[in-house]
Amino acid sequence: MSGETHQHGDPGDPQRPIYHITPRSGWLNDPNGLIQWGEQVHLFYQHNPHGAFHASIHWDHLVSDDLVHWRRLPIALAPTPDSPDADGCWSGVAVDDGGVPTIIYSGASAAGQRACLATSADGLLSWTKFAGNPVIPGPPPGLDLVAYRDHCVWREADGWRMLMGAGLHGGGGAALLYRSPDLRRWEYLHPLYSGDRHQTTPVWTGSMWECPDFFPLGDRHVLIVSVWDHHMLHYTVAMSGRYAGQRLTPQRLAKLDYGDRHFYAPQSFRDRQGRRIVFGWLQEGCSGAAQLTRGWSGALSLPRELRLHADGTVLTAPLPELAALRREHRRVAARTLPPGRLTPLDELRGDALEIIAELRPGPQGVVGLAVRRAPDGSEETRIRYDPRQQQLSLDRTHSSLDHETDRTTHVAPLTLRDGEPLRLHLFLDRSVIEVFANEQVAITSRIYPSRADSTAVTAFAEHAPAALLALDAWTMRSIWGDPRDPHVTNQESDREE
Ligand code: FRU
Repeated sequence: MSGETHQHGDPGDPQRPIYHITPRSGWLNDPNGLIQWGEQVHLFYQHNPHGAFHASIHWDHLVSDDLVHWRRLPIALAPTPDSPDADGCWSGVAVDDGGVPTIIYSGASAAGQRACLATSADGLLSWTKFAGNPVIPGPPPGLDLVAYRDHCVWREADGWRMLMGAGLHGGGGAALLYRSPDLRRWEYLHPLYSGDRHQTTPVWTGSMWECPDFFPLGDRHVLIVSVWDHHMLHYTVAMSGRYAGQRLTPQRLAKLDYGDRHFYAPQSFRDRQGRRIVFGWLQEGCSGAAQLTRGWSGALSLPRELRLHADGTVLTAPLPELAALRREHRRVAARTLPPGRLTPLDELRGDALEIIAELRPGPQGVVGLAVRRAPDGSEETRIRYDPRQQQLSLDRTHSSLDHETDRTTHVAPLTLRDGEPLRLHLFLDRSVIEVFANEQVAITSRIYPSRADSTAVTAFAEHAPAALLALDAWTMRSIWGDPRDPHVTNQESDREE
């Protein structure tokens, strides 16, 4: 397979998304170094170019003019033998240091993970590692840590601040706060905030926090962390509250996405319009062997805007400019959904679709959509709303006949006001599914239908007749290449027909 074919998504691989970022080949995990630089947005990600497994982590590099279409650039960072990043260039961020693009990342070596720095003199294309790496020799003396890595860096009136992710033995996850005059000399202050692994409400926050991300949003500050415990990646938690005296007092804590480990290690940045935009790592849910055979692993979420609900919950919403990916439009007529059976929506079919639907459950009834359904129903993925339980679920029990894939059901709390319909916004992209409901909750996951004909969409009701009020859907274009380049557009539409 030529590099060119991979770059545009491998048409021979039915699991390879076409409008989500995936690696050309090899491994992808966390998004890193997100930054608006002039007119463009640069995005890097944790990458092993040698194979679809986590080792020898590099920073791969992409650039976009519109946050929708992406071009690949050369790898930005690679491990240097016998150096503080000999075993990998782990997660970090990019900042503008008075006009100098600067990366702060976790160099992994036998000594553990330590803060390292690199700068670019050619507009973010090539990077020079700082001779004085690591810029912090190790964890603050006196702290007994479970683990220590990952960075969030910002400027305050009197200099730079940085958070590092950590876990306190006997305590819980922690975001350790540092300050620096020049990004190279760092002084440890104290935890910005730390959790307690013995506390389970409102949401359990594990024993260590990876990838802390901290920023102002509306009239509050938000801390996003990825909850890690005993080498398991669990989910992403967002806390919003007051930032004063160099400490955060959270007032609201909730999962950022209810797909749990399939939306992990997110990173956000402020774009030119002042929006807070986040990307997450959509970890695979198929076996390691299947990933090796396919030759690639991992996808990034679509870009989402972070918003604050009136009650302080942090929400994500897909960017409006993603509409540029829409190709053919289909509208499904409103209809009643009789309970206890499926209503096929024959106008719709596909494995790369955007769907916007409004559904009204009957009294005491359940309503939903099934996607990626096989003609005989042997495969399907259900999105189901149960008003009695006030829950939205993404049911993967029958998503794949391949029993090596993760088929657990994700559940999100969702309360609709009286008479408020269920408003679903779905993005299906081969093995990726992103579900947004009523501008309140998101569930993102991975599905692996094994049959080429698992492409139908149906609606269903349980217990009482429900209503399909409206449904619009689009087939989708690829994100690769320049939208103004007719060659790319033709190539993608040819392939998709
Ligand atoms: C999160 C993470 C980070 C680390 C990186 C290594 O997925 O474990 O904590 O820096 O991945 O690739």
